[in-house]
Amino acid sequence: MQDLNNQVVIITGGAAGIGAALTKVLAQRGASIVAVDINEQAGLAIAQSNPKQIVFLKGDVSCASTAKQAVQLAVRTFGKLTGLVNNAHASIQKPIMEHTKEDWALSFGTGFDATLYFMQAAYPELIKSGGAIVNFGSGAALSGNPMQASYAAAKEAIRGLSRVAANEWAKDNIRVNVVSPKALTEGVAAWKARFPEQYEISANKVPLQRFGDPEKDIAPVVAFLLSEDSRYITGQTLMADGGTVQLR
Ligand SMILES: NC(=O)c1ccc[n+]([C@@H]2O[C@H](COP(=O)([O-])OP(=O)(O)OC[C@H]3O[C@@H](n4cnc5c(N)ncnc54)[C@H](O)[C@@H]3O)[C@@H](O)[C@H]2O)c1
Repeated sequence: MQDLNNQVVIITGGAAGIGAALTKVLAQRGASIVAVDINEQAGLAIAQSNPKQIVFLKGDVSCASTAKQAVQLAVRTFGKLTGLVNNAHASIQKPIMEHTKEDWALSFGTGFDATLYFMQAAYPELIKSGGAIVNFGSGAALSGNPMQASYAAAKEAIRGLSRVAANEWAKDNIRVNVVSPKALTEGVAAWKARFPEQYEISANKVPLQRFGDPEKDIAPVVAFLLSEDSRYITGQTLMADGGTVQLR
């Protein structure tokens, strides 16, 4: 099990879904967490579950000011910042020809822009002791799933940015990697209810025959990428998806 003692990590979207699993598991492994989310109720609840190690910041990740506030909160509360997980991402599913300007803005604002803002805000703190950034990609983007144009485009933009940052910031001992998960969260359960056929197709394509568990299958991969155990890994995409997409 990865030891994250002495680590201070910002997790965007850290109040629900995979983000909540990350907040819980990384704290269990010793890290102090700043969970940033627009969901105030869930955010307050998760902070209350472990007030010594988890603080909550209510904010919209698509605003650059939220990123700056999160970094300030980490330093003010825990004295430093050693890790950043860009997990939050909201988007709409519809055909390319029906995508509106607002639909593109939602996905790029909460996905790509937010990832960039948090990376830029975190950099001055991360260079102080070296650090790790974990961004989130998606198999839907790698495969080009129908109905997911704005989501897929923003996710692949995040992967491109991550590779450039991995190369630019290697000299600062800052590692940047991407995790591409497949997990049965509340959000996926809602998607399953709305598009049951798409869900069946998706579940049947998983070589390990199931959607992942956020705490047991996804959070440990993120913990690994934040820990010293992965000190020689940067610029990579790790597929935590039961073997669905096999990168070469
Ligand atoms: N669940 C999966 O199987 C799956 C598959 C591929 C990729 N992903 C990626 O993994 C990450 C987490 O997915 P999830 O299923 O847990 O998502 P989710 O929608 O269940 O949770 C996302 C969290 O982000 C928060 N959030 C949304 N918009 C926000 C905003 N503007 N500002 C602040 N917080 C905001 C939500 O309140 C929520 O707590 C995302 O990047 C997603 O694209 C998930």
